[in-house]
Amino acid sequence: PPPAAQIHRLLRQHWGEARLQRLHDIGRTAAKLGTPAYLVGGCVRDLLQNHPAPDTDLAIEGDVRAVAEACTAQLSGMQCTYHPQFGTAILEYPDGFRLDLARCRVEHYPAPAALPEVRPGDIVADLARRDFTINAMAISLDPGSFGDFLDPHGGRMDLQHGLLRVLHPLSFVDDPTRILRGLRFAVRFHLRLEPGTHVLLKTALARDIFARLSGARLWRELKYVLELDDLAGVFEKLDAWQLWPLLRPVPPKSETLLSSMQRGQQEIAWFHRHCPGEKLFDTAVLLTLIWRHIPWAEAEKRLHCWPVTDGHHILRDLQFLSEVSEALAKATRPSAAAQLWASLSLPGILALLAEHPESDAVAESGRHYLLKQRGLKSPLSGRDLQAMGLAPGPQLGKVLRRLYEAHLDGEIEDKETARQWLIRQGILPSIQP
Ligand code: CTP
Repeated sequence: PPPAAQIHRLLRQHWGEARLQRLHDIGRTAAKLGTPAYLVGGCVRDLLQNHPAPDTDLAIEGDVRAVAEACTAQLSGMQCTYHPQFGTAILEYPDGFRLDLARCRVEHYPAPAALPEVRPGDIVADLARRDFTINAMAISLDPGSFGDFLDPHGGRMDLQHGLLRVLHPLSFVDDPTRILRGLRFAVRFHLRLEPGTHVLLKTALARDIFARLSGARLWRELKYVLELDDLAGVFEKLDAWQLWPLLRPVPPKSETLLSSMQRGQQEIAWFHRHCPGEKLFDTAVLLTLIWRHIPWAEAEKRLHCWPVTDGHHILRDLQFLSEVSEALAKATRPSAAAQLWASLSLPGILALLAEHPESDAVAESGRHYLLKQRGLKSPLSGRDLQAMGLAPGPQLGKVLRRLYEAHLDGEIEDKETARQWLIRQGILPSIQP
């Protein structure tokens, strides 16, 4: 294992002297309360990888609340949130540095894919309940052994050799979400399955283990997978681990889906650049592309179980995308194109943009719709038209629609050009000199 001095150096390098000091303080405070404290899980893995860790998890063998409150009492401006139902606490320092504290625990899975029953345990048991060896390492914060590295399952070697390995044979059966968590780690850190773990994955899949998982738990993990930047890596793992059936009945045949999804990522980035602050559910764009050319019922079946935000919009878009795409290719007037674009949800629009080369006419009309036409308001309201002498009624509605289309087509710009347009159309009498 790396000597404590090396761990010190990594901690100092990534977090700086001041934050390192805080870890010393916590270790001392916990020791005074008679309990050891450890850095655990993802943050240890990330530290060894030289990746800065956004969240920092601490495992405490004793009373989490007592440790969290004692730490809070030592520093003004520090916030402590205790969650009694989970026995966890969050410490937030005035500069935003955040530590998540949890009690060391043992887990027992009463049935495959069920949520575990937990009871307190020590650090060794806590590491043994974890998903992969690379996530089952700890660093002691105890004053007597600060920086000591605990790696009972060989996580550091696996990380060095690029291997993803579970800790015990029932790991995937206990918790199938680990398969998708594993996929994320494998993509992020370029790992491959250790052969024994690959066999366990196949066994779990042969037992149709995902069928036991709630749609909510499955979707939560799939969403994280689809949020990864490296879609080529995701595709490679979905192929190799034979996980496509989770998303669609058959794996995509060619590179087409991958490139359209990569284009989808670019469209999402383009949209956020040009419409900052506007809400967009990015993942819906990718789901739309994944389901674009498969039977609609396959998407419906999945969305029936998964709590996907605005899933019904995705289903509606999937029904009309081909039709809209064909009609757009034929639309000659900007107003006709705008109406077609308006029939899709925002993710549906971006999915369609992703299917078209950047400079093609449909893509251009889509961008024009998003940036220019979408927020356009008619320069004259129904009230304005009545003030000009038009009678209220269905005819007025028709004029308003035509006026709006002329506006979308760039024929009118403001109230005055609108008035002239109404005269040219014979809707308003021309003023005699
Ligand atoms: N863990 C686990 N099984 C799960 C979920 C979590 O064993 N189904 C353990 C792992 O040891 C993991 C730790 O809990 O390292 C913290 O989980 P989480 O914060 O979800 O993951 P991180 O490893 O911190 O990864 P990330 O960098 O993606 O946050």
